[in-house]
This record gives sequence, structure tokens and C-alpha cells, in this order.
Amino acid sequence: MKFFIDTANLNEIREAAAIGLIDGVTTNPSLIAREGEVDFKQHIAAICEIVQGPVSAEVTSLETEGMLREGREYARVAPNVVIKCPLTRDGLKATRRLTEEGIKVNVTLCFSAAQAILAAKAGAAFISPFLGRLDDVGQSGLGLLAEIIEIYQNYGWKTEVLAASIRHPIHVVEAARLGADIATMPFKVIEQLFKHPLTDQGLELFLADWRKSGRL
Ligand code: E4P
Repeated sequence: MKFFIDTANLNEIREAAAIGLIDGVTTNPSLIAREGEVDFKQHIAAICEIVQGPVSAEVTSLETEGMLREGREYARVAPNVVIKCPLTRDGLKATRRLTEEGIKVNVTLCFSAAQAILAAKAGAAFISPFLGRLDDVGQSGLGLLAEIIEIYQNYGWKTEVLAASIRHPIHVVEAARLGADIATMPFKVIEQLFKHPLTDQGLELFLADWRKSGRL
């Protein structure tokens, strides 16, 4: 399973890349807005300098023509830019057209298996089911992920399943068990993945014994 980082913060991206864990980046308008007065295209370009893998840049137009205009413009920023289109009728029309032009699209805001089927039919390179936001309304995000993977496997569809809106390590582990192609997660979740109290305790014990033996 590939790891994407779900942030627009350059320090977090640099740190995660330095650990060697990052295969790509997903951003969205909220994450970009969190970075303050940055120029959108310049900021995406800066991310693409740090990470070689796919970097998602989301359109904000609601109509197909606007999405196409934005998508073509952002795709020129760097060869690894992927355009994020929402799972709406206009978004899927834009997905089909951009895909035909050789621009990869990540279809975002997916909350049902039916929507995921449409995205694959539209030629999306990635489908992003939002696990955490579904859990928030009392539906199973992981249940949806399982459904999508099963359906895509039935037909050998090439659209990569990108588990998004990940909130904690269990989402990551279960996404891996289900066979998701990618999990995108905030920096905080990457940090949580490292943690186990027995690792910290074990280290302390080893060092204490080392000290006692006079070696430290
Ligand atoms: C995915 O590409 C989205 O940016 C993201 O995962 C949304 O997550 P959230 O529900 O934590 O905002």
C-alpha cells in the first residue's frame, strides 16, 4: 500500500519525505487555506519539488468548463500533478475529458459504492472514499472501502483506490488488510503509526541495563 500525506504544509511534507515514507501528496482547498496567503500554483510547485509521486491539486469550479480550465492550468505546474475533481455529474464529465487529454484525475468526495463505480467508468486514475467523514455520520467508512475494492476487482478496473479522510492508525491497518492501493493521512497519523508504549519501555529498559553494566 502506498502512503500519501494529506496536507499542504511544506514542513510536514519535508519531514515525512525525509523519513522515506511518502509516495505522494493530497491537498484540498481547506488544507491550502490553512497555509495562509500562499499562491496556489506556486505552492503546488513547491510540493512537487519535494515529492516525485502524484500530488493532488483540487479544482474549485462547480461546472465542467471551469474544472477543465483549472485542471489544464494546474497540470502544467509539474508532470506529477494530479487533478482532483469532485464526485458530481460535472466533476465526472471533467474527469472523462481530462483523462482523454492525458491528465490524471483523482475523484474526491466519494461516499458510496455507486459513486465509485461511476468514477471508474469515467476513467479516474484514483477514487477517494472518505472513511472518517462517513464514520462521523454513523456509516462505516471501512465497509465502503471493502465494497469498492471488491467491485473494482470483479472487473479488473485500473482506477486506484485511495483511502482518504483517515483519522487514526486503525484506518491505516484495516485499509491495508482490505488491499487499498493507497492511504492518504495527516502527518499526525503518520506519527501515531510509530508509537507503541512497549517500544518506549523496552528502549528504556535496554538503556538502563546498559548503564548498569557501566557502558554508558
Ligand atoms: C483527501 O484527499 C482529502 O483531502 C482528505 O482525506 C479529507 O480528510 P478530512 O475528512 O480529514 O478533511
